[in-house]
Amino acid sequence: MSNNPGFDCRKDFPILERKIHGKELIYLDNAASTQTPRQVVDTIGAMYFTHKANVHRGVHTLSMEATGLQEAARAKVADFIGSPTTEQIIFTRGTTEAINLVASSYGELLNEGDEVILTQMEHHANIVPWQLLSQRRGIVIKVVPITANGQLDMDAFKSLFSPRTKVVSVCHVSNVLGTINPIKEIIDMAHRHGAVAVIDGAQAIAHIKVDVKALDADFYLFSSHKMYGPCGVGVLYGRKELLEKMPPYQGGGEMISHVSFERTTYADLPYKFEAGTPDYVDIAALTTAIDYISGIGLDRIAQHEHDLLQYTTEKMLQIPGMRIFGTAPGKSAVISFLIGNEHHYDIGLLLDKLGIAVRTGHHCAQPLMQALGIEGTVRASMAVYNTREECDNFIAALNRVASMLG
Ligand code: ALA
Repeated sequence: MSNNPGFDCRKDFPILERKIHGKELIYLDNAASTQTPRQVVDTIGAMYFTHKANVHRGVHTLSMEATGLQEAARAKVADFIGSPTTEQIIFTRGTTEAINLVASSYGELLNEGDEVILTQMEHHANIVPWQLLSQRRGIVIKVVPITANGQLDMDAFKSLFSPRTKVVSVCHVSNVLGTINPIKEIIDMAHRHGAVAVIDGAQAIAHIKVDVKALDADFYLFSSHKMYGPCGVGVLYGRKELLEKMPPYQGGGEMISHVSFERTTYADLPYKFEAGTPDYVDIAALTTAIDYISGIGLDRIAQHEHDLLQYTTEKMLQIPGMRIFGTAPGKSAVISFLIGNEHHYDIGLLLDKLGIAVRTGHHCAQPLMQALGIEGTVRASMAVYNTREECDNFIAALNRVASMLG
């Protein structure tokens, strides 16, 4: 393999050969969803054509094979993030469901007046579940402000703790600003105050090596579709003693030990939190996605994306009127920007006509947009298969768009 994984791995992603409006596709919407390599889709096909049967429910061979593949995926995830056991890995539909699970279930252990600290840069998925909990249980939400370059104001953060602080819930990487938050420091700070730390790892998991044990995280969650895996699967890692004392999130098959109309007892971890038939096909394919990432190496991926970020940012800043939101040192390869006062939607639409896929809008982070005093941005986000040549074409397209919009 050369030093450029972007070049090497492109053949694994047939979608990158598409033309959009007659132009070569340049896919820069990776923070929303990464593309999926052939190997992952092959696993999905093999699951449907060879191993499909419901898991944990049959003595027949197919069911046992499917169960084995699902549990192998759990072991793979545990190993990938340094979880001490597999029972601490709960499969969900995605990051959003994982946060809802924690807010609903751990939230049952909170009392009126208990405090949850969030930050100004959270995705709606890490705001609204806590607001719903607030309406049910009267918890109080406090919000950490951000600095001008898009970092958390750590002094303000410290000042928000009180004896009533029970939860700190923070993104590892901002989906808008690309800021990589000092989550080890945040987790330690939460623990010193007797609070638990929930880390939304959706934007980190495919870009940064995560070790939940070294971080001492209480909860860490992420989505498969942002890590070259299939849609519809997410992971919640939880500290065992917390998961054990939390009530179930949903009721149904698989999460019980014994059911009667008088009294129902629940299954052990992780099944207590996995009611109903899981998406065992896509869970099995997540194994292949993790193997894919590990095969290239997260260090190489991070280095490559950092190189693209530096290269592209420098060139973008030469475009008159360019405004980049989020300039924290060491940030992730996510570039949110506007050109002058042009509308993000217009910029995104014109880029699409040139074959370039970026995200536009508030990025499910309206409170952050309020803090920045804007309605939305255009966001370009990079992944392992992007290349410098694509970045050059993106810059050329931006120059064209800037002159078209005047
Ligand atoms: N959370 C995803 C994003 O930031 C959808 O685009």
